[in-house]
Amino acid sequence: MNILAFESSCDETAVAVVRDGRTVLSDAILSQADMHALYGGVVPEIASRKHVEAITGLTDQALREAGVTKKDIDAVAVTYAPGLIGAVLVGVSFAKSVAYALGVPLIPVHHIRGHIAANYLAFPELEPPFLALAISGGNTLIVDVRDYTDMAILGATRDDAAGECFDKAARVLGLPYPGGKPMDQLAQRSKGGKYVLPRAHVEDAPLDMSFSGLKTAVVNLAHNAQQKGEALDAAALARDFARAVSDELVPRTVEALRMTGRRKLAAAGGVAANSVIRADLERACAEEGVKLYLPPLKLCGDNGAMIGAQGYYEYMAGHTALLDLNAYATMELSDSLEDMI
Ligand code: KG4
Repeated sequence: MNILAFESSCDETAVAVVRDGRTVLSDAILSQADMHALYGGVVPEIASRKHVEAITGLTDQALREAGVTKKDIDAVAVTYAPGLIGAVLVGVSFAKSVAYALGVPLIPVHHIRGHIAANYLAFPELEPPFLALAISGGNTLIVDVRDYTDMAILGATRDDAAGECFDKAARVLGLPYPGGKPMDQLAQRSKGGKYVLPRAHVEDAPLDMSFSGLKTAVVNLAHNAQQKGEALDAAALARDFARAVSDELVPRTVEALRMTGRRKLAAAGGVAANSVIRADLERACAEEGVKLYLPPLKLCGDNGAMIGAQGYYEYMAGHTALLDLNAYATMELSDSLEDMI
């Protein structure tokens, strides 16, 4: 089954063709990050307009690179939640038009379910049940993946997402947007151990996380140094910051593994590209005797192939939509479309 998949929830327009949920035939992607970097973050209005401009050309490119024609497409999958609403609407509207024109089923896909499904593309042997650590620009979740379309959130951030926190800290250090990667590169130049940064604890919710205190601590450090005319050791701060984020994520993930008894852990989302977090996950999983799935960097960030992968399993579970499908800025990944109507 060939699925034509669309992703437009933030600042990447992506169109892919995926066969049977596991084989990527093409994965066309256009990032707008350079444009938003001028403003230090994603400007929603610009994001929507850039998606409108890019999506048709990327669709032609995805079909061409896959070596298929429109007649070979059996279904259309699209990210319908969560994300910047104007941006998601572009993908949803376009996908609906394509499904209508081709007379094929329309499959709505939750963005974070898609991130988790990126692992099915990288690791053909991976099947649920497993635990997932989904860490992106807008979400930070520990998820029990009971089956391909049956998931429960075990832990979540109470405030900022891990990626958002990386982006904000990077901005304070004068690094370009999106800041996660440059922060990671900077951190590799130091062993850290210079700055004391807070670790949050959520009362009565041991698997929940919080990043806003950490974000504020970095902002305050930078402002205090500026006021005193002192230079910051940016590399050491970047390293200590990554360590603090990892300390928030990895021990809780280990706790969730112990609680559920799951023996497999899959990482997902842009922040899963972070070298400190990857190393900590590798160490922790080796100690626990848990098999770790770390997708390649290309599959960590937003892409269309992951939507095609999850779309296949949603289709198999009968989760298709009518052409009145809407887009949603927020949605729990355990919710179904019926819950939103
Ligand atoms: O998954 P993603 O591409 O988009 C969303 O669905 O949000 O994640 C983007 C986030 C950004 O906050 C970016 O700064 C962060 O992932 N990121 C990283 C790294 N690479 C990307 N954060 C930490 N370390 C990295 N190497």
